[in-house]
Amino acid sequence: MSVHLTRSLEADFYTDPAVFKAEQAGLFCRTWQFAGHVSQVENPGDYFAFEIADESLFCIRGRDGVIRAFYNVCQHRAHQLVSGEGTTRVVVCPYHAWTYELTGRLRAGPNLNAVPGLDKSQIRLTEVRTEVFLGFVFVNLDPDAAPMEEWFPGARAELEAFVPNWAGLKPFEWVEIEEACNWKVSIENYSECYHCSLNHPTFATGVVNPDTYDIQPQGYCLRHTTECQNLDAMTYEIDSTIPHSREYSSWFLWPMVSFQVYPGNILNTYHWRPVDEGHVVVWRGWYTAGGEDSEVIRRLAVQDRSTTVEEDIYLVESVQRGLKSRGYVPGPLVVDPGCGVNSEHSIKVLHGWMREAVER
Ligand code: FES
Ligand SMILES: [Fe+2]
Repeated sequence: MSVHLTRSLEADFYTDPAVFKAEQAGLFCRTWQFAGHVSQVENPGDYFAFEIADESLFCIRGRDGVIRAFYNVCQHRAHQLVSGEGTTRVVVCPYHAWTYELTGRLRAGPNLNAVPGLDKSQIRLTEVRTEVFLGFVFVNLDPDAAPMEEWFPGARAELEAFVPNWAGLKPFEWVEIEEACNWKVSIENYSECYHCSLNHPTFATGVVNPDTYDIQPQGYCLRHTTECQNLDAMTYEIDSTIPHSREYSSWFLWPMVSFQVYPGNILNTYHWRPVDEGHVVVWRGWYTAGGEDSEVIRRLAVQDRSTTVEEDIYLVESVQRGLKSRGYVPGPLVVDPGCGVNSEHSIKVLHGWMREAVER
């Protein structure tokens, strides 16, 4: 019987600036990316600027209630339009005061009427594809991108069922974690639990029952599922009448976002923001009804930061150093045909997506 081993990706995928450049010019521009939360644009004229793939963009709510996203560039001579966040009646360019409607249409500009043949209706800000998903704004710089439902089949409906109060949630706590590693190292670490029993001491004894932990693809979503244990010893109370309240689940949406739901229907998010080939910033988001203060959530955020997150930083930074070693030869993945917690089948799936991203 011939044996075919699945090897890990070549090291330069994680260390070569040219690969990062290719990802930034390709993958990051044709996938669904996290922009922010709808509560940042609650009222017409509210806006916030953000960056994706080295592009400045901004999100703004129109008078019609629609949330739109635009490239943050004036269609006159390219000055940036907004920075940070705020509220405005119209978007006014700071350079020569061209003025745009909240829909992106050019409304006026000094002396424009003096120009023969200049048709204002032909000029508008360049809009990008937007979807609101569980109260989060996602954008895709590819005008022809398939909708999120096709990328991540079923994920939205599942999340809505796991987080029944999602529409009233607001960001309450953000934790920002800088990691000196390639974004893919961090994402791979998030996407397998072969390292958990050794590196996360609370793992086996906590709420997750490790023997039942599994990660399976669902389109371009990696779905983590497990049975829970010791729920009665939890530090906070769970309303067991709410469906899924005694479950843990997570939905990683390739390439850069993950939604996790803890027992008690508690939503929290990961948002990876790649800086360069050797650095990534991970944003951990925590949410409460109306953004109200919550001792429980605050404690969870601190606990998570000081255990799992802290433990993972050492792992991913060591891996990044190792990937630069002349002595590293990509090893075989531990792909157990039966899957399960000690299998790297999910890494095999990720590597396929990572390869396809730069080889297309
Ligand atoms: S560049 Fe914006 S008005 Fe001139
Ligand atoms: Fe980990």
